Amino acid sequence: MAGVRLTDVRKSFGDVHVIKGVDLEIDDGDFIVFVGPSGCGKSTLLRLVSGLEEISSGQIEIGNEDVSRTEPSERGVAMVFQSYALYPHMTVYDNMGFGLKMTGHSKEEIDQRVQKAAEILELKPLLDRKPAAMSGGQRQRVAIGRSIVREPKVFLFDEPLSNLDAELRVQMRLEIAKLHSSLDSTMIYVTHDQTEAMTLADKIVVLRAGIVEQYGSPLELYDNPDNEFVAGFIGSPRMNFLSGEVTSAKAGSATVTIPNLDGLKIPVSTRDRKPEKGEKVKVGMRPEHFVDAASTKHKFKAPTSVVEQLGGNSFLYLNIGDGEQLTVEQKGHTSVRDGQVATVGVDPSTTMMFDSAGLRV
Ligand SMILES: Nc1ncnc2c1ncn2[C@@H]1O[C@H](COP(=O)(O)OP(=O)(O)OP(=O)(O)O)[C@@H](O)[C@H]1O
Ligand SMILES: [Mg+2]
Repeated sequence: MAGVRLTDVRKSFGDVHVIKGVDLEIDDGDFIVFVGPSGCGKSTLLRLVSGLEEISSGQIEIGNEDVSRTEPSERGVAMVFQSYALYPHMTVYDNMGFGLKMTGHSKEEIDQRVQKAAEILELKPLLDRKPAAMSGGQRQRVAIGRSIVREPKVFLFDEPLSNLDAELRVQMRLEIAKLHSSLDSTMIYVTHDQTEAMTLADKIVVLRAGIVEQYGSPLELYDNPDNEFVAGFIGSPRMNFLSGEVTSAKAGSATVTIPNLDGLKIPVSTRDRKPEKGEKVKVGMRPEHFVDAASTKHKFKAPTSVVEQLGGNSFLYLNIGDGEQLTVEQKGHTSVRDGQVATVGVDPSTTMMFDSAGLRV
């Protein structure tokens, strides 16, 4: 087992700069999730850690050892990809043991490790099967088993569940969580799935265009994003951003007027600095943070364009002028119908403010 440290890691392909100076300190045994828009460099960063791709500059340490120029096979990492790429003509047992056979491990050693991995992954009854006779989830478990038998210091997963259907994903997500708690190894995991990121991660790395926007626990990022990008990226459906103007400010809080919400004035806590009176800001409100209008004096009215009833909760999509749209989540069923005017309450304590550069105010 080992922690991982990246120091000013950069990667260019020709003159295309993909990773632009990443510093990361990953503790031994932590489960780290990389998220970010498509093309931001998640897979590239993972491949740099694995050694499948060579860094252009900077340093990568695994377990306090500089592995920046070390061969992938010498780094003590194992990578699991989205496509499981099992050998179709081999049994589950042979698929899992093949890598060890190639590296000259004894039959006894291979057997012991394969049996142990099969036990952890509940693959024992399937050891004699061939991949064609297994479900997607079972095949993905074999692919994970293949990495477990190598007893790596660090596991690297690149969207391992994205080929699975929704139900299997949930099941495999739980299995990966169990795997992490039973192996206690450092894991780095790339995903597009909000729920996977929030539930699996000890810490999430939000990447944008090759730069780390924020690194912290899932709830730190959700409750306390540093900027508009992270605020919009973490949380589903995404946070609403409304144009507003600061009408007064003192240390720790400011009053903001939101023209598109009938000129609603609300007090918003400030975190990083005192804004200027008259400053144009973006006000951030998560769909799930609106409240019953009867419970607050901070409320507004707006026409709904669409109402979605999901049973356990409902979404109202409101047109609020200037083409701005607002998503409001309500618990349970809603009595609001498409096209009706809804009255919605705002909770100032969960409202955030961002400046014109997108930084938290
Ligand atoms: N071998 C390469 N040569 C040139 N450009 C590359 C190469 N590999 C990746 N890139 C570029 O680097 C950028 C980051 O790619 P990467 O695969 O890391 O993105 P990603 O965040 O994993 O995206 P996705 O979510 O779509 O998987 C992309 O713009 C991609 O086109
Ligand atoms: Mg990728």
